[in-house]
Amino acid sequence: MVKLSVKINEQEKTYPIIINDNPVSTLKEDILSRLEGKKFLVVISEKVEKLYGKALGFEKSEKFILKDGEKEKNFKNYKKILERALKLQLTRKDTIIAIGGGVVGDLAGFAASTYMRGINFIQVPTTLLACVDSSVGGKTGIDTSFGKNLIGSFYQPNVVFINTNFLQTLDDRQFKTGMGEVVKYAFIEKSCLSEEDLNLTNYLSENIEKILSRNLRTLEKMIEICVKLKISVVQKDEKESGLRKILNFGHTYGHAVEKFTNYKKYTHGEAIVKGMDFAFNLAVKRNLIDKNYKYFWDDVIKKFNFKSIPDYPPEKMVKLMKMDKKAEFEYITFILPTDYSEVAEFKLTEKDLQ
Ligand code: GLY
Repeated sequence: MVKLSVKINEQEKTYPIIINDNPVSTLKEDILSRLEGKKFLVVISEKVEKLYGKALGFEKSEKFILKDGEKEKNFKNYKKILERALKLQLTRKDTIIAIGGGVVGDLAGFAASTYMRGINFIQVPTTLLACVDSSVGGKTGIDTSFGKNLIGSFYQPNVVFINTNFLQTLDDRQFKTGMGEVVKYAFIEKSCLSEEDLNLTNYLSENIEKILSRNLRTLEKMIEICVKLKISVVQKDEKESGLRKILNFGHTYGHAVEKFTNYKKYTHGEAIVKGMDFAFNLAVKRNLIDKNYKYFWDDVIKKFNFKSIPDYPPEKMVKLMKMDKKAEFEYITFILPTDYSEVAEFKLTEKDLQ
């Protein structure tokens, strides 16, 4: 069992992230022991409910079951969750509990942040991507027809329970999409400014077989390293005014790939691996890194056998990247590699990209 602590200065709120592989049936007791008030609402993914509903042991009346898929992260479900919370007469002391992947965590977290101007919130991420990224750092939100996550809040949970048992039933594609974010941390590690030397790159190369065969202890350690790196970043810059932008490595081009393919063809992790590949090529072209580092990157993606994505028409991709919510005026912001495990922010024009 690993217990990490997150301290966000602005809110003076410190909360634990607990990582373990205890039986899923012990989670309810762990969660209930953390509640401030008596009442709660569990927002749970339909898939997780089917696989673990019995073991988790929550009553039907305590649950809001959310269908799976990004399209469920919408206004309609946000409203439905709030209405259930109102019906249950949750007060400010009560809690919304999210059990599922990023969609459940973002949606339930946004509901928790706005219900009665903010009630307690507990995250139980059940996908690798949610464990290492979306459940840590307090980003919540919903999607609209204008784009993803354009409505949301920064709202830190009271506690995060990461139970690695959930990862054993993840399908391969979902596991790989999480590995996309894990690999990202290896390539930004030094820029995360962690006081500890975590050396994720070494850990990944020494344990690749165990990771891919989902050895629980290996996954626990890998998740611990990633979460420590994310904590290091979000503690220094909760609201993404500076340092936190490095977490968007691979995302500028990756988001354009997702948009170009209508969020249907590739998962987020697959798209950001392509985005990191684009960033590596750009960094070589701009003489930021030498070719050996690019070959090292090529080798890593080959070893993890990430899905290969074709190059899409450059003019269309540039147009989409310019529409990104992180774009500013005529500039497109990229996080590019500058050295081993180091990245920096670059603002490039369309002309620079030609
Ligand atoms: N997913 C990137 C962040 O939390 O900032």
